[in-house]
This record gives sequence, C-alpha cells and structure tokens, in this order.
Amino acid sequence: MSLSAASFEYVRQVLRERTGHQLGDDKVYLVETRLFPLARQCGFDSVDELVQHLRWGPRSELLQQVLDAMTISETSFFRDGRPFDDLREVVLPELIRRRAGERRLHIWSAACASGQEPYSLALLVCAGFPELDGWTVHLLASDQSRAMLARARRGWFSTLEVGRGVPADVLERFFRRVDDGWQVGREVRRLVEFLPINLVEPWPALPRMDLVLLRNVLIYFDLPTKQRVLAQVRRVLRPDGYLLLGGAETTHNIDDAFEAVSAGATTVYRLRRPNGDAAPD
Ligand SMILES: C[S@@+](CC[C@H](N)C(=O)[O-])C[C@H]1O[C@@H](n2cnc3c(N)ncnc32)[C@H](O)[C@@H]1O
Repeated sequence: MSLSAASFEYVRQVLRERTGHQLGDDKVYLVETRLFPLARQCGFDSVDELVQHLRWGPRSELLQQVLDAMTISETSFFRDGRPFDDLREVVLPELIRRRAGERRLHIWSAACASGQEPYSLALLVCAGFPELDGWTVHLLASDQSRAMLARARRGWFSTLEVGRGVPADVLERFFRRVDDGWQVGREVRRLVEFLPINLVEPWPALPRMDLVLLRNVLIYFDLPTKQRVLAQVRRVLRPDGYLLLGGAETTHNIDDAFEAVSAGATTVYRLRRPNGDAAPD
C-alpha cells in the first residue's frame, strides 16, 4: 500500500469540509488502513483507485462510506459511568423540578454514533423516574452517519456491547434476546427519535433543549469549527438548560458564553447570565 500525496490531500480536504474533522500530516497510514477494506469491498485494488473514483465518478454514496470509515464511532452504554450517575442524581432531578409546570423535557444526544448514548439516557428515564409518567419526554439522537443511525434505530447490540456498561438488572428488565444479541425494548426505543444532523452543516429547526449531550466529537474539530458548533448549541439550549461534553472537552477559552458548574463530580455547562446570577431553582 502506498497512498499518493494527492489522494491523501483529497481525503483530508473532503473530511474537513464535510465533517469538520482535522487530519494531521502524519495520518497517511491511518487513511490507508481505514480505507483499504472499503476499497476491496468496492472492487478496487488500492485506496488510490478508490480515491480516483471518488474524485471523478458519481460519488455521493461512496463519499458517505469514506466519511464513515474515517470517523471514529467508539461509544458505549453509560460511557465513563460517573456523568450518567450525576445526570440521574443531580441534573435530571433539578430539570424535572423546574419543568414540573410544563411536564415536558427535551434532551438531545448530538453525535450519538450507534445509539448507546441516547439509549443510556432513555434507560435512565425509564428505570429511575416513574414521576415522568404522563410527561412528554422527547429524546432526540443525531449523527452525521446514516449507517450509524440505521444501526442505532434498530437498537440491537451484541453481547460484548451490552457487556460494556449495561448493569445486569437493567439488561434483564429492558432488553430482549434477539439473534445472538440484545435488542432494547420497545418502551425504551419509543422515547428516542433518530435524525441525521451534520453539526458543521446548517441544522434543521429544533425544539429548545433542556439538556444537550455533545460528547467526544468536539475533539475532532479545529477551534473555529468548535466555536461555530457551540454558538449553535447556545441557540438551541434553554437559558437554564445544561450542556454535557466528553471528558476531554471543554468550552473554556472556546466559547465564554458558557460557564462550567459542578453536578456532583461531573462538570456541566450552562449559559452564563449577563449579571452573573445563579440559575433559578
Ligand atoms: C466517538 S463517537 C461519540 C459517540 C458518543 N457521543 C459517545 O460519546 O460515546 C463520535 C461520533 O460523532 C459523529 N460525528 C463526527 N463528525 C460529526 C459531524 N460533523 N456531525 C455530526 N456527527 C458527527 C461520528 O459519526 C461518530 O458517530
């Protein structure tokens, strides 16, 4: 395998334009290893041939496959553990108190990969908050990858995948055995609506959100892209809503309209109030 400089530049450019992802100069090997299986699957002898086809032939479906192969979709149920404990113990109870009048909650998992993150939220709601019975709980889950969304909608996970984070009692209560794996039960799946949304392209009209999870995706963007995405999050987040980022992500020095607050052991972000007041309880 040896990828030409022109092919590498082309992949790097479409990846940046279409997903906001940055690839360093040293990532030639990464492009080759990620795209080689796709090249073979499409009948090409090399990644160069695949890229030639992408450049000069009809490309929309192949382009999406290339973007999917190049983006990292690593995820797991209740990823990192503690943030989900703190959502259950601190953030959700507080939001439920504040929304008791409207009896409505809007939550968005904004780069949901194969669905473990929004289903973790839905499982929290189903297992931990019987008082939400009769409320409208809308869980939006989105990703740029339609292949990921198709997987996520089915709600089927291998034994290995559920083994990464689903407690045994939750598995028994909310999943059923299907095809050597596990499918999330209908009463949990029906809470989640999956939509394709590319964070670096114009967003569709969205309801104002009480809680946005934007985890483990900002890290792939350059600073101006992070700033654009966070500026849009500001517009969809309710003034007293919360933003949860991945463990290696922050709004600090990126968008100072957000301030960090502690929710148990987890840092969450909310919109800074002009006079510096705390959020109403
Ligand atoms: C590492 S996964 C994170 C999944 C989940 N949020 C978590 O923390 O476990 C990153 C996801 O971001 C998605 N993604 C990457 N760039 C995106 C973009 N520009 N718009 C929307 N989703 C994007 C990828 O398709 C991938 O599914």
